[in-house]
Amino acid sequence: MVESKSNDLMERIVALCKRRGFIFQSSEIYGGINGFWDYGPLGAELKRNIKDAWWLSMTRQRDDVAGLEATIIMHPKIWEASGHATTFADPMTDCLLTKKRFRADQIDPQSGVAYHFAGAKDASPAGAGKQCDDPYSVLVMAGQHPEHARKVAKQFYQQRGIAQPELLGEHIENVENSTRYNPENGSLLTEPRQFNLMFKTYVGPVESAENLAWLRPETAQAIFAQFKNVLEVSRQKVPFGICQIGKAFRNEINPRNFTFRSREFEQMELEFFIRPDEAVEAICGHVAKPAGPGHPGKPQPDWGWQIWHQYWVEERLRFYENIGLPRSSLVEYWQKPEELAHYARATVDILYKFPFSKRDANGELAGEELEGIAARSDFDLSQHQRFSGKSMAVYDEDLKTAWTKLPDAKKTELSERYYTSRLKYLIKTAVPAADAERQARQEAAGLAKGNYVPHVIEPSAGVDRLALALISNAYCEDQAPDEKGNLESRVVMRFHPRIAPVKVAVFPLLKNKPALVAKALEVRDLLRPHMAVFYDEAGAIGRRYRRQDEAGTPFGVTIDFDTLGEQGPDLKDTVTLRDRDTMKQQRVKLNDLLPILSEKVR
Ligand code: GAP
Repeated sequence: MVESKSNDLMERIVALCKRRGFIFQSSEIYGGINGFWDYGPLGAELKRNIKDAWWLSMTRQRDDVAGLEATIIMHPKIWEASGHATTFADPMTDCLLTKKRFRADQIDPQSGVAYHFAGAKDASPAGAGKQCDDPYSVLVMAGQHPEHARKVAKQFYQQRGIAQPELLGEHIENVENSTRYNPENGSLLTEPRQFNLMFKTYVGPVESAENLAWLRPETAQAIFAQFKNVLEVSRQKVPFGICQIGKAFRNEINPRNFTFRSREFEQMELEFFIRPDEAVEAICGHVAKPAGPGHPGKPQPDWGWQIWHQYWVEERLRFYENIGLPRSSLVEYWQKPEELAHYARATVDILYKFPFSKRDANGELAGEELEGIAARSDFDLSQHQRFSGKSMAVYDEDLKTAWTKLPDAKKTELSERYYTSRLKYLIKTAVPAADAERQARQEAAGLAKGNYVPHVIEPSAGVDRLALALISNAYCEDQAPDEKGNLESRVVMRFHPRIAPVKVAVFPLLKNKPALVAKALEVRDLLRPHMAVFYDEAGAIGRRYRRQDEAGTPFGVTIDFDTLGEQGPDLKDTVTLRDRDTMKQQRVKLNDLLPILSEKVR
């Protein structure tokens, strides 16, 4: 019941997205292409606003983050270093009957009775003597009739050329929590096999192994590859970050939930480089750790990785709240140790409660990932150092100075700790033990001279998922009076003005009065350099309001006869300003309009 209500809501949201031009199916006139989406006029504005808000908060409003815009296709070694070439894969499985493809790790475990068949022989007169010996199984779940298994099995053998199958070798088995059967029809699935999600291409005219390249599956790696260049030109010092917005591509096995899991999407990623804790301790005498939940405040030199991680989780939550996602719609999910990537020390996922999210035991929407904030140690830069042969270490003057003043016992303790952590990384990456020990010793000696490979905190968000979250959050059905004051249902998109695709709509009361139209165009031109304005003169004013409500335009300005001074001098050069959410209208002076609106949409 609850599930279907959510699905209904999602269907209405998808319909609105198409009707109002937020999101269209890509290549729709050719039947579409699964996992690819286009953004229409309103969607394109919404996405632009999301990216602008992120860019503003991540770099322009900070001194310690610089931007980057790298290419989508990069040297293939990048993906060897990052691990994507070998490990960026999902387990894929197909239904033996319908051929439908699933991600094996996304199949809900099922229990029931498995009907196993050894094969089938053809009972039709024409097929006498024909037999198929392929074994096959069907899971019958509680409440289903055993005949279901036989019916499905017969379809399976019919597909294998047995016109009238007589099933052979039937036996049953109780099955608990299995993911080996198609949840939709009970048919056995193929053995899961790993499928690399990166899209392949070739650089140049020859399709040979040496020309093989990949469309990037994340924007992050370019940041690591350009780390040294950006460090040099931006005159930044650790701690500092590099951020990037751009397209990413993943050949998802099962794109689903509208744009949520797409094959082409955009990411907004920050790699924030920090000192290893040993360097912080050498400089500050101690390492500050989180004192409790919540925002830890302005960054401090004594912060270790844990408090930096907490800082970025809180910063990102603030960002989402600032663009209109209420805290109650977000979930902060700490990945369990067994869920963490092998290099990650901690990862927090920020989830949004989408209408299609599963519900927890209390019936609450559990949420789906909008963004992950990972503490990735010094893994990424170390990998690129190893694969490229170029040093990714920085020189930290403060560390060098502090180190000389440390007592010998402290020097030894910090050196040993650093040595152990570097050794762990090197051994994990299959460097032979003797070489790993030698290299880790050298790196520990380097630390004493002020050199280290920075650690990183990575907040990584998806533009498309955020657009979908904002659309889902904004969608609202309520009642509003029509022309005659009768209440009628309306769909209103309650976007925060900061993120709304169009900020203000300008309407002349009547389109057949040239003076009203001329004044309205004047108002449009006054506002247009400062914000997205939509001018609309078609139809009754109530209908025009309704159209803008559906587009999520937070403000409407109407130019009427009072504006022209036709009802007396008092109201001349005033307009009505309508608020989408309260539907209240106020009379404001034209001279005040721009400052009032600018303040509201900032
Ligand atoms: N560099 C880390 C990284 O890429 P991720 O969790 O795989 O981490 C980060 O991706 C974000 O990118 C996700 O939180 C999500 O918002 C977005 N994202 C990932 N795969 C996506 C897909 N198939 N469709 C839409 N957005 C996706």
